[in-house]
Parts: sequence; C-alpha cells; structure tokens
Amino acid sequence: MCGIVGVLGEHEAAPILVEALKRLEYRGYDSAGIATVNGAALDRRRAVGKLVNLGDLLVHDPLPGKAGIGHTRWATHGAPTVGNAHPHKAGPVAVVHNGIIENYRDLRAELAEHGLAAETETDTETVALLAQHFLQQGLPPVDAAFRAIDKLHGAFALAFLFEGEEDLIVAARKGSPLAVGHGDGEMYVGSDAIALAPLTDRITYLEEGDRAVVTRRSLEIRNDEGTRVERAVRTIRAEAARVDKAGFKHFMAKEIHEQPSTIAEAVRAYLPVGDDAVTLPDGGLDFTGIDRVVMVACGTAYYACLTAKYWFEQLARLPVEVDIASEFRYREPPVAARTLALFVSQSGETADTLAALRYCAGKAERIVSVVNVPESSIARESDLALPIHAGVEIGVASTKAFTCQLSVLLILALKAATDRGALTADDLADHIAALRGLPASINAALDQEPAMESVAKRLAEARDILFLGRGLMYPLALEGALKLKEISYIHAEAYASGELKHGPIALIDNQVPVVVMAPRDELFDKSVSNMQEVMAREGKVLLISDDKGISEAGDGVWQTIRMPRVHDSLAPILYALPAQLLAYHTAVAKGTDVDQPRNLAKSVTVE
Ligand code: F6R
Repeated sequence: MCGIVGVLGEHEAAPILVEALKRLEYRGYDSAGIATVNGAALDRRRAVGKLVNLGDLLVHDPLPGKAGIGHTRWATHGAPTVGNAHPHKAGPVAVVHNGIIENYRDLRAELAEHGLAAETETDTETVALLAQHFLQQGLPPVDAAFRAIDKLHGAFALAFLFEGEEDLIVAARKGSPLAVGHGDGEMYVGSDAIALAPLTDRITYLEEGDRAVVTRRSLEIRNDEGTRVERAVRTIRAEAARVDKAGFKHFMAKEIHEQPSTIAEAVRAYLPVGDDAVTLPDGGLDFTGIDRVVMVACGTAYYACLTAKYWFEQLARLPVEVDIASEFRYREPPVAARTLALFVSQSGETADTLAALRYCAGKAERIVSVVNVPESSIARESDLALPIHAGVEIGVASTKAFTCQLSVLLILALKAATDRGALTADDLADHIAALRGLPASINAALDQEPAMESVAKRLAEARDILFLGRGLMYPLALEGALKLKEISYIHAEAYASGELKHGPIALIDNQVPVVVMAPRDELFDKSVSNMQEVMAREGKVLLISDDKGISEAGDGVWQTIRMPRVHDSLAPILYALPAQLLAYHTAVAKGTDVDQPRNLAKSVTVE
C-alpha cells in the first residue's frame, strides 16, 4: 500500500521515477507525485488519481534534476487531494512514506509549539516537519532525518530528499518493505525489487529498523541502535523485470491464463519429475512432531487456508485452525507446543499477517510461510518459506497466486499425511498423478471461457449475487464472491450450501442469481437439494459442475458452466478458474477498472 521510489542518477530523474512508479501503481493509485533536487532547488509535482495524470502534468510542467523521490498513494490519512499527495515538503525537506505514523497528532502538537504548522491532513507531513525542525536546530541533513525517524511510532518506509543535496537520499524501514538498488554510478530506492527491475538486478533489502544513507557511490546502513551493519547485495530473478500484459487487455486476464504454467511450475518444484515423494526446500519439515496446525492469512490467501483445512484434516487427520490475521493477533490465542504456525501471503508483506507471524515466533514449534515473494518480510522471518512460483502478480485481484497457494498447500497436506502414516501409497500416488495432470485440466477449463463470458453479461445486470458451495467448494464460494465484488462492485455473498435454509434463503427471489459450485462428488446430491430449495423460490441457479453433475442436476437450472472432471481433492483449484473468469467478464461488461479496482491496493502494509 503506497509505493515509494528514489533515484540518484546520471540522467534526468523525473522519467525514471515515473517509469518506476508505474511498476508500483498496484500498491495504490489515489494520487502520485515526485520531487527532485536541481542545484539548490527542491521542487515537486503532484496529481490526483492515476499516474497518467502526473505524467500529463509533467509534460506541461517538467521537473528538472537528476536526484529525486516519487510516490504512488493509497490514502490512509486524508482524502486523495493534491495537498495530501506525496512527496510532502517542509522547507528544505521532501519526504515520501509508505505506512502509518501512529503518533502524528502528538508530534504535530509538539511541532506547532516550535512554530511549524501542518498544512495537510496527512501523517506523513509530520515527518517532513520534524526533519525541518532538526535542520533548523543546526543538524546536518542525515542527522536531522535520523532524529526525526527516532521520534516516529508506527510502520514506515521513508525516503528523504534535501534542498541543495544532489547526491543524498536518506531511507528508513520499519514495518514496511524497502529495497536499495545498486547501479553503475547510480543508486535507487524502491518499495520492492519489481519497481527497480529495469534499472538494476542488484538489490539490498533493508531490515527492520534499518536506516540507509544513499549516495551515487555508497550505501551506509545503520540499525535502530545506530550501529553500522552490512546487508547483503542479492541478484534478483530476471523475470521480475517482465511486467507487461502480453497482448491481453488486462493483467488479470493474462494472469488467469498463465495458470496452467504457474501451477505446473509450483507442482514441479515440490513433486520433481521422476520422484513420487514431496520434496521441500532445505530445512524440510517433519509432521511427526506436530499435533496441530494454525493457519493465518488475509483475504484470498485466507480462503486458500480455509480450503487447506479440509485437506489437512481429511488427508492427514491433523487438526487445523484457520484465522484472519487481523483477528488472530488481537485475540492473543494460546499457541501450544507442537503447533505448526503457517502463514500464507502472496506479497509476503501484509502487515497483519506479518504481525501474527511475529506473535507466534518463539511459541510455535515451526513457523512456515507460503509466499510468492521469496525475499519478502514474511518469508525472511519464517523458519521455512515455501515459494508458490506464481511469478509477479500485478492485477489487484489475486488469481494465479491463489491457485498456486492451493497447489502448494495440497502438496504440504500430502506431506503431512505421509509423515503421519494417514495415506496409503496408492492414495498418495493418485494425488500426485492428479496434481501433475492438473495443468491440462486447467487448460480445458479455460476453453469454457466463451460460455463464462456470455453468462457474465447476464450477471452484470444483477444487484446481488449469492455463491454456494459445500465441503471443499465452500471456501471457493467465498473466494468467488470476493473476486466478483472487488472488481465488479456487485454485492455478492457466499454461504455453505447447507446454511442457506438457516437464514440467507430469505434473500432469494427471481432477481438474485445463485452460483452453485458443485462437482459430482459425494456431497453432490446434497447440493442438488439445496439448489432445489433455491429454484422453488424462483432463484436463478447458475450451476458450475462436470458433465455428470450437470446431467443429474435436473430441470430448472438457469445457466450451466461445464468443467472437466478431476480428482475430488483438486476441484477447488480447478473451479477457481470459473470463479475468476465470471468475476473478470462481469467487471469487463460493467466497464469497471479491472486491474485497479476502486479503493483497493495490492499489498496491504498497514493495519
Ligand atoms: C483479493 C486479494 C486480497 C489479498 C489479501 C492478502 O483478490 O488479493 O484479498 O489476498 O490482501 O494479501 P497477501 O496474500 O499479499 O498477504
């Protein structure tokens, strides 16, 4: 949430900053801005809305200078106005910030006593004012920035730029990620390596509490105690540099269509060809010493955990609790010994999930994470990080990360089942064969896209839509409803099919489409009964099932979508495709901004 970037370059900074911000726009798009130093002058340009508005502004009103910082905003404190847009400037200091300064009201009051009044509604301006205050007291820029940082409570990634200092950026990280990129005679700062990928593949990740003094030829890092520390320079994977739509209209469409290969990649990583056992990265994991699993995540990743609960309990006979990260941490649950704490996060930076992980550290037997970004905070703070191999996901609505999370979690459940002797060798072999065959089934599901597009045009007319599922399909119903509401803005709710008659059935009438996800498995007959209850009240049932299910469902179904038949355990991964494509085409039919839906941001690094 919010993206920040900085450059100390040999060329004009503005175009480089805007280009890098494009790659960070997924983190927020309420406003954008840049500041540069040119000789003595520190100046800035800011615009409300998407980055393209800032680009337009710069055409008419360019900003010279080879040193600069930039920001793309997801509003927390203060409406998305030009005044509240970053960089914030106080006298000779400009600051960009990702995170929340919790004590900004107290700091504002202190600063007001020194005659430094805030002009915006933001928490960030306080940081700039603090630095200005310490400069006025005669401190040099680096010390002024450090003193300002010392006074901050909350979560932040910060970059400071100073009037007359063309070869200096001060950066700091506490709670929000920040990376420094090494170029040839140039240096960069960015919220993530993706932003910097076209500029350099040599990255230093700052650690919690680190402050960095960056010049074109040097990087000096101090920890929060002021001690000089060394942080490794890593070479990041070249694929991070490839951020394009590959001919698709939206990133989301591209990412949906990538799933046959991303799932194949995830499966191959943990079930290497020619080997019929689960292979985990170095450090491994043995479930014989584990009595219980606690899974914690947010949003779509939370639904992946809910699905995995069924797998771990049914296949491995291992009890699982699943929690929403923001609830978990404040409930202060006891974490018994012999508990495996498992955190699932695409970005690996979600503030609540990270805080839940820290809560479990030292209490749980092992801290394991399932992440898409191996260099992320959640991965680095885990005893064992399991990458999902989905590749960079840009669409704000998660798609390929979800199915890769599911694939890795199913494989982990198989490992648990094997370690605990809960699965026969034949059952294990069946699951492994089914997982290896999954990409082909996903391709077959993609072939049904035209049918989904045509149904979606009808869904786009609805005001409310219900999703129903049983067993493994229940979490997927929740995911289907989330996907639909976040990009089409249609109100959608999901229920376990059996819960319908306990209340939600009151919502059913001939205006409400009800999406039923029901492969022909052992719960199918029960789902058919629930569908009948809906149809008896004139509800419009859209049944997503396989050939057998559709033929057995009986008359009266409004629309059907046909899925290939897969192993029952794998159905939630396969049925994620129609959930995603229905949401996608409904949003396209409604003309919403699919990749950057209103009010959302991809990486939620604030509570
Ligand atoms: C929805 C979506 C979000 C994320 C959630 C967690 O499409 O993408 O619900 O799943 O914000 O994010 P990560 O997985 O990065 O922790």
